[in-house]
Amino acid sequence: MKYSAISAVPLAVLAAYQANAQVTVYTGIPSRTATADPAEATVDYAGLPAYDPLTLEPPAPPETPVTSYGLTVPSTEDALIAAGRQLSIQQKGSFLGFSIELSVAPSIIGQHANSLKVPFLNYMANIRNRAGHGALVRIGGNTQESSTLYTQGTDDGSMIEKIKEEGASVTSTPTINYSDDLFYAMANISAVVGVDWYFGLPFNQSAVENKIDNIYEVAQTAQAILGERLLGLQMGNEPDLYSDHQKRDPGYGPTQFNDEWISIKDEIRSEGNLKQSQNFLIGPSICCEVEGFLLDDVLNAGFLTDNLDALAIVAVQHYPENNCGIDGKVTNPQDIFASYLTHNSAVGLVGPYIDGTTQVLAAGKDIMMMEFGTASCGGFPGLSDSFGAALWTIDYAMQMATQNFTAALQHVGGQNVYYNAFTPPPNNLASSGYQWTTGSVYYPTIIMAELFGSSNQSQIVDLGADNNNEYHPAYAVYENGVPTRIALINFVSDASGANDLTVTIDMGGQPFPKQTVDVRYFSASSVAEKYEIYWANQTLRTSFASDGRLYGDRETVTINCDTGANTCSIPLKAPSMAIVFLTDQSLASSTSDDTASTATFATSVVNVGSATVDVGAIQSGNGQAGGGNGGNAVLGSNSKGSINAGGRTIPGALSLSTIGMMSLVMGLTAWVGLGA
Ligand SMILES: *[C@@H]1O[C@H](CO)[C@@H](O)[C@H](O)[C@H]1NC(C)=O
Ligand SMILES: *[C@@H]1O[C@H](CO)[C@@H](O)[C@H](O)[C@H]1NC(C)=O
Ligand SMILES: *[C@@H]1O[C@H](CO)[C@@H](O)[C@H](O)[C@H]1NC(C)=O
Ligand SMILES: *[C@@H]1O[C@H](CO)[C@@H](O)[C@H](O)[C@H]1NC(C)=O
Ligand SMILES: *[C@@H]1O[C@H](CO)[C@@H](O)[C@H](O)[C@H]1NC(C)=O
Ligand SMILES: *[C@@H]1O[C@H](CO)[C@@H](O)[C@H](O)[C@H]1NC(C)=O
Repeated sequence: MKYSAISAVPLAVLAAYQANAQVTVYTGIPSRTATADPAEATVDYAGLPAYDPLTLEPPAPPETPVTSYGLTVPSTEDALIAAGRQLSIQQKGSFLGFSIELSVAPSIIGQHANSLKVPFLNYMANIRNRAGHGALVRIGGNTQESSTLYTQGTDDGSMIEKIKEEGASVTSTPTINYSDDLFYAMANISAVVGVDWYFGLPFNQSAVENKIDNIYEVAQTAQAILGERLLGLQMGNEPDLYSDHQKRDPGYGPTQFNDEWISIKDEIRSEGNLKQSQNFLIGPSICCEVEGFLLDDVLNAGFLTDNLDALAIVAVQHYPENNCGIDGKVTNPQDIFASYLTHNSAVGLVGPYIDGTTQVLAAGKDIMMMEFGTASCGGFPGLSDSFGAALWTIDYAMQMATQNFTAALQHVGGQNVYYNAFTPPPNNLASSGYQWTTGSVYYPTIIMAELFGSSNQSQIVDLGADNNNEYHPAYAVYENGVPTRIALINFVSDASGANDLTVTIDMGGQPFPKQTVDVRYFSASSVAEKYEIYWANQTLRTSFASDGRLYGDRETVTINCDTGANTCSIPLKAPSMAIVFLTDQSLASSTSDDTASTATFATSVVNVGSATVDVGAIQSGNGQAGGGNGGNAVLGSNSKGSINAGGRTIPGALSLSTIGMMSLVMGLTAWVGLGA
């Protein structure tokens, strides 16, 4: 993201809604109550953006409601090709992951390698349980560029030390000192919930005061500690903005960037004691459709061919809008809300990458979206955290997968942004371990994980539903040449029911694999809803009420098909999204086995310097809180057999994957014992 114009302010006084007012760039929107005309607003919200309760008005439904359409899902890949469509490359359940800004990493993942944040682990576990392997997370962003690794530790002993935050300008970024404790924290997270990582290198610190030039040391240390859990090191972040942001001379273009990239790549290879010196770097990570600095321009400058042996992955980053206030421009989120609630958005956003993607794939490399979100510079109140934004995220993710991106990472910033998938509580609440705020856009990560499941063989196609209708796109996932899951979206928001849809699916006259289909719904009362959001009847709850686990009983709706006509009719509320599972295997592959794997682990969350300890739980089954009513789950209550360790109950039946967690828990308990 562009580092937000709002400086991060630790709250001295808690009561999130009474925090000191911060200067924000969206000042055209004084209201925290929904009104069609923000100028009529009455109530001022002066708290931190991440908890802003502003709700927008849902855009008006189209004048002529569509209440039904027919959808043909060809019964084989050959039939699909005959119908003029093609499947994507094979995709994984981890497709949609997270990009965490380096400067805020401790508040999200944990302050030290031995004090991880349990809600974060739960958010990751939910994905692993569905994808069958760990989530993808990048640590980096603008702040990676002015960061320095101190392998001997930082001056104040913290994992990450923010040296300064310059004035509230869009381009200002804090200077970061960090220690290798950060990599140990990442390694410990991988040991517990299997996360695979991307990490941002300080590409060229020439302009950073007091820096030590140790990019090669970062590369070698990250590789040594993370091993195979490190999928790549990103070099250069949004270089298409370097000259605009006065980080390079005017006229800095793809050729200059490529030359610099090559020289720094060579430095890392010659100076660093690397474990892996081939296929280990990521670039160009351009973001902003700068004329002359597009993906095609960078590839034409030789970036791919010159760096083929060094590249792990080719990456881009992009936000469709910004809230940067550039040239005094103020965007009212209400005015642009509707532009997200159409399939045209996803198609339009991915279109510019199709040529480049074809070249990258032909060269044998993968391409990914390293960072994205609804809008840069923090997103927009009421929009970035709405159910509508979540529907947009799902459609966009499916479209990127359709066009052969291999992963896409949603950016997570601090408490001064609106778009976070999850936000820890403000400092004074942090000791409680839960009370996190789950953003609407978290749900798409578990939905995408269920859409692709755990086979790693899912191929997706945009079915161009109902003559490419912009309000109700549909996609199908095929495995081994046959369709196994169908994704349906209804972008229209209409509480009257007049825009509820029935989608009648056929398989080109062929019978369905079963006489029934199983459906899971993603639902909320309106696209503007921010908190009452459900996936398969489960929710991560409202602001300050989440511990990263799903609550409620999971609901999978079984729908009888018409075996005479070989059709299945799926109701789809306005708004909503659904996954239709065609086979028992596809449902099983997307569903964690509660009875076999449910295990709730005792561990602790400790805020640095604080003796306050609270207890949460890592969920490795699906969403059943031990205690049933909130973060205060009774530890181990839904696991078989318990042992007692350090006063906390830990399940006795340990699978291989829980061994690491076990030692983590022990380590934490000991540490907590000392601290308290
Ligand atoms: C961190 O950064 C500052 C300024 O950039 C520097 O003076 C300080 O010594 C650094 N080192 C450590 C180990 O924190
Ligand atoms: C976890 O962190 C500790 C440092 O606190 C480190 O010694 C240990 O190696 C880490 N575990 C893993 C699996 O990397
Ligand atoms: C790093 O950036 C500076 C400008 O900030 C530039 O003068 C220098 O040549 C760059 N280093 C390399 C190795 O390209
Ligand atoms: C995506 O991959 C599929 C399967 O290999 C291929 O048919 C299609 O042309 C690719 N599309 C792009 C944009 O690379
Ligand atoms: C899918 O890929 C992941 C690595 O991304 C791997 O860990 C996992 O074992 C694979 N699953 C299957 C079923 O091959
Ligand atoms: C949805 O979850 C609630 C608990 O939050 C439960 O009472 C209800 O029975 C569930 N509905 C279905 C249909 O499973």
